[in-house]
Amino acid sequence: MANDEFSKLEILQKEKEKIHQGGGENRIAKQHEKGKMSARERIDNFLDDGSFAELNAFVKHRQTQLGMDKKEAPGEGVVTGYGTVEGRLVYVYAQDFTVLGGTLGEMHAYKICNVMDQAAKVGAPLIGLNDSGGARIQEGVDALKGYGNIFYRNTIYSGVIPQISAIMGPCAGGAVYSPALTDFVFMVRDTSQMFITGPSVIKTVTGEEVTFEELGGADAHNTKSGVGHFATDDDKDCLDSIRELLQFLPSNNMEEPPVFEPSDDPNRKEEDLKDLIPENPNKPYDVRKVITRVVDDNYFFEVQESYAKNIVIGFARLNGRTVGVVANQPSHLAGCLDINASDKGARFIRYCDSFNIPLITFQDVPGYLPGTAQEHGGIIRHGAKLLYAYSEATVPKLTVILRKSYGGSYIAMCSKSLMADVVYAYPSAEIAVMGPEGAANIIFKKEIENSDDPEQTRQEKIDEYREQFANPYVAASRGRVDDIIDPRETRPRLIYALETLDNKREERPAKKHGNFPV
Ligand code: HXC
Repeated sequence: MANDEFSKLEILQKEKEKIHQGGGENRIAKQHEKGKMSARERIDNFLDDGSFAELNAFVKHRQTQLGMDKKEAPGEGVVTGYGTVEGRLVYVYAQDFTVLGGTLGEMHAYKICNVMDQAAKVGAPLIGLNDSGGARIQEGVDALKGYGNIFYRNTIYSGVIPQISAIMGPCAGGAVYSPALTDFVFMVRDTSQMFITGPSVIKTVTGEEVTFEELGGADAHNTKSGVGHFATDDDKDCLDSIRELLQFLPSNNMEEPPVFEPSDDPNRKEEDLKDLIPENPNKPYDVRKVITRVVDDNYFFEVQESYAKNIVIGFARLNGRTVGVVANQPSHLAGCLDINASDKGARFIRYCDSFNIPLITFQDVPGYLPGTAQEHGGIIRHGAKLLYAYSEATVPKLTVILRKSYGGSYIAMCSKSLMADVVYAYPSAEIAVMGPEGAANIIFKKEIENSDDPEQTRQEKIDEYREQFANPYVAASRGRVDDIIDPRETRPRLIYALETLDNKREERPAKKHGNFPV
């Protein structure tokens, strides 16, 4: 009996060893040569030491066509299970490129769906480490069905648990759509790509010549397409960055984000803020300097930093609590709102609202970017997303108007009318339908034209307009601004306001879902 048990244990150990070897030493060495970790190394690096519990390691494909009956696929090309990050439960899958190119067949998809379902049931984040040639061609419709099952779960669990994707190798065809449905996409420079059709198909169809990296590399998706949220240097950097992001997020939509022991004085006043914003409204500055001076330990975890730079988004903490920051960036396109900035801002706002993360908005915005490219590209439809996302959000919403705040963009950047809870303005704020130059040229057109000295009259009218309207006092007199504050006190004022909103409850009419202007 004892001997039998021993031999059964030996068999178990051997089976596990075989599975753990994935595609074997040579293929793992190939991964290393490319600067990539193996699937298991990635999981080991990502989770807290010794916390990984594997699920479904013995799952096998059941295909027989096109030589599949002879193909061994240890682990079915994906390692799945759960473990912890800084002690908090997460579910994870890592596609194993050494096994059939990490391609997705019916049972590979089953393993992924299983961890997705478990993660949703217990309310824990799901992290997908993707490295896959897409649908396993030999499995035909079974593979396509597998992708469909994953996309469905990505969608119904959206806003329930955080879903994070790391792209750590080539991800082609169906392999890109699951990440696109998740909340954050991390990419690794030089070794990861995302594309629907690869360079050779593009060459055949359009004649265009493009490399893998130019087409779908980390920089392409983080600067041009907006598909990526983070571009990282290597696998380790990627995994560390995901661990860091998780520290800002709750595990599910029923939880508050984790609260950290505050390490920064909540009453810290920041002398710099008095002079940081140039008096000349046309002079640019980096709004991140304002953000970092206000938040805990001057630390801002920026999201999509290289895409639509005219709006800045990211996470930070105020007195130990996570906040989502949205800010116009005057040093890029003067901080104008355009199509990409609207998309970027709106998606982030909706994420924060889904996961109970208060929103802090810093406004310095001259308006929407003019031009036919924007109008014909649908700035009306895209710009509407910001209005919708802020209006829909019921988390605490605090706005600070730093300087320019004109027209539609004043409304869109979390104004009182979109139910901001508290709006503060700096004394340098200019809140009006448009900037003094444009306004004076329109409303005093005749007087300027008929004057003996049109330029002098124009300047006088600009000054007159600025004095009367381009300040925060008119808006404050109408209750559109709750207080005009000393910039040095921004941090304590925001922290105090945030604390008062702790028990905020805002109900909406019951509905299935709204019709977001996609
Ligand atoms: C079956 C595949 C495969 C696939 C790769 N392999 N892609 N097997 N189905 N889709 C296998 C290779 O035959 C090879 O097996 C192993 O994986 C490694 O691939 P290599 O080509 O040797 O690696 P590499 O040179 O690094 O190139 C990786 C790659 C390339 C860029 C991913 O393999 C590639 O272009 N594959 C096709 C990608 C693609 O078009 N996918 C879309 C599928 S359609 P051996 O045994 O030789 O090592 C799709 C539609 C879903 O996904 C739609 C849902 C909406």
